[in-house]
Amino acid sequence: MPKQRKIAIIVGSLREGSYNKKIARALIALAPEHLAFDTVGIGDLPLYNEDSEKNPPAAWTEFRARVGTCEALLFVTPEYNRSMPGVLKNAIDVGSRPYGSSVWEKKPGAIVSATPGALGAFGANHHLRQSCVFLDVPLMQQPEAYLGHVGKAFGDDGSLTDEGLKKLLTRFVSAYADWVEKILRGPGEIASDQHPG
Ligand code: FNR
Repeated sequence: MPKQRKIAIIVGSLREGSYNKKIARALIALAPEHLAFDTVGIGDLPLYNEDSEKNPPAAWTEFRARVGTCEALLFVTPEYNRSMPGVLKNAIDVGSRPYGSSVWEKKPGAIVSATPGALGAFGANHHLRQSCVFLDVPLMQQPEAYLGHVGKAFGDDGSLTDEGLKKLLTRFVSAYADWVEKILRGPGEIASDQHPG
C-alpha cells in the first residue's frame, strides 16, 4: 500500500448544484484509498489586494495554511467566457503570495474541466494551466479531462450515473495517483524502482 497522500481539491464553482462539485465528489469516491482529499473552499476569500498583505484577512491566512499542509493539488473547474471563473483565479492569486511563499510551488497537480456544453471547458483548463506553469506546479499532461455534456451525467441524488464517465474518471484519478507518487518520490527512488535488486 503506497504512503497516504494529502490532496487539496479545489473546485472553481460556488454554485449549490454545481456539476463540477459533483465531479469532484465522484473523483474522491473513485480515487485509490491512499489519497486523502481536503476539499478547500474558495468562496470566502476576499478579492486579492496587495495592500492587504500588511494585515492579511483571516480567510487568506487559513486558505494558505490549509493548502500548505497538502502535498498535491487537484483542480476541478467550469469555464466562464472561455476562461477560468474569477473566483478560482482569485484563489490562485491569494495562494501565490506573499512573494516567495507560494503554496502551489512544486506540488504535483492535475486539472479536470467540466461543462454541460460541448467543448469540455478547454479554455478554462488551459488558462489555469498557464498560471500553473508560472507557479511551478508540475501538472499531469495525460490523460486529459475536458468533460462535455455533463448535465446528463448525474441522477436526482447527485450521484454519477454515466458509466462511461465513471470509467474515464477512474482511469484519470488512478493516473493522477501515479503522477503524485512519481513527483513526490523524485527521480532517485523511481530510478531504483526500475532496477530492482
Ligand atoms: C458560463 N458557461 C459556460 N460554459 C462553457 O462551456 N463555456 C463558457 O465559456 C461558459 N461561459 C459562462 C460564463 C458565465 C458567467 C456563466 C455563469 C456560465 C456555462 C457553464 O458551463 C454552466 O453554468 C455550468 O453549469 C457551470 O459549472 P457548474 O457551476 O455547474 O460547476
